[in-house]
Amino acid sequence: MQKKEMLHFAIELAKEAGDILMQHFGKISSYKQKSNAIDLVTIADTESEAFIIDKIRSSYPDHDIIAEESDLNQTGSEYRWVIDPLDGTTNFVHNLPIFAVSIGLQLNKETIIGVVYNPAADRCFWANKNGGAFLNEKAIFPRSSNTLSESLLVTGFPYTKDQRWEKGFVLFKEIYGKTQGVRRLGAAALDFCFIAMGRFEGFWEFGLRPWDICAGALIVEEAGGKVSDWDGSPMPFSGHRVLATNGHIHDQMIEVLNKDLF
Ligand code: IPD
Ligand code: CA
Ligand code: CA
Repeated sequence: MQKKEMLHFAIELAKEAGDILMQHFGKISSYKQKSNAIDLVTIADTESEAFIIDKIRSSYPDHDIIAEESDLNQTGSEYRWVIDPLDGTTNFVHNLPIFAVSIGLQLNKETIIGVVYNPAADRCFWANKNGGAFLNEKAIFPRSSNTLSESLLVTGFPYTKDQRWEKGFVLFKEIYGKTQGVRRLGAAALDFCFIAMGRFEGFWEFGLRPWDICAGALIVEEAGGKVSDWDGSPMPFSGHRVLATNGHIHDQMIEVLNKDLF
């Protein structure tokens, strides 16, 4: 199977799913709650996901799929698609155009293709392993700030308000004090891409899931940035603790994050 063909397929798929999201954007009048009152799902999430699953099943019937809104049977295929049909649902519900479709493809558990499409801005971020990272047709690279004090960072918070959530705010204050500022945009897949294109120097979060990180992490790496767990070990596929940076501030971030809080 041609990797180029699968990359093209993934880009077109993300764009078509993005068109589905745009048909609903600005018109959401109801939503359902998932794990708790602030964990939302809309008709846009489910329609986008059903469309993506259907397309993958018809083109690549033997491949496995992990998708946020569906509990799909895994067959142990060497290929595995990792899908967030709408990353940034809370933004979407509030008519904030910061949301994306995220599609990753893994071969033997290594991500080989990542596509993150922000349909409201018609911006498609994509990467394939060892092929660089792109925004639409243009190659992208992180910014070269060397210190935390010259850096603008981005983070996010999970929906579950437990002890870790409280500790997360202690960490937030500490990191905020060392940098030019920290933003919270509400769409993890785009947070990664904004490192890759040089808007932010670093992104950290805990309690994410595979579909939040799979495509974005490859895009950061292929742009020339770095991704890892908070202690510098390889980034866990689970999304438990993630760090992505321009590379230059990575060790400084590990020093702050690796403080026995979690
Ligand atoms: C969420 C977003 C958000 C992050 C949350 C995620 P969803 O994804 O990526 O930025 O802070 O932890 O769950 O629910 O909008 O797909
Ligand atoms: Ca998500
Ligand atoms: Ca989602």
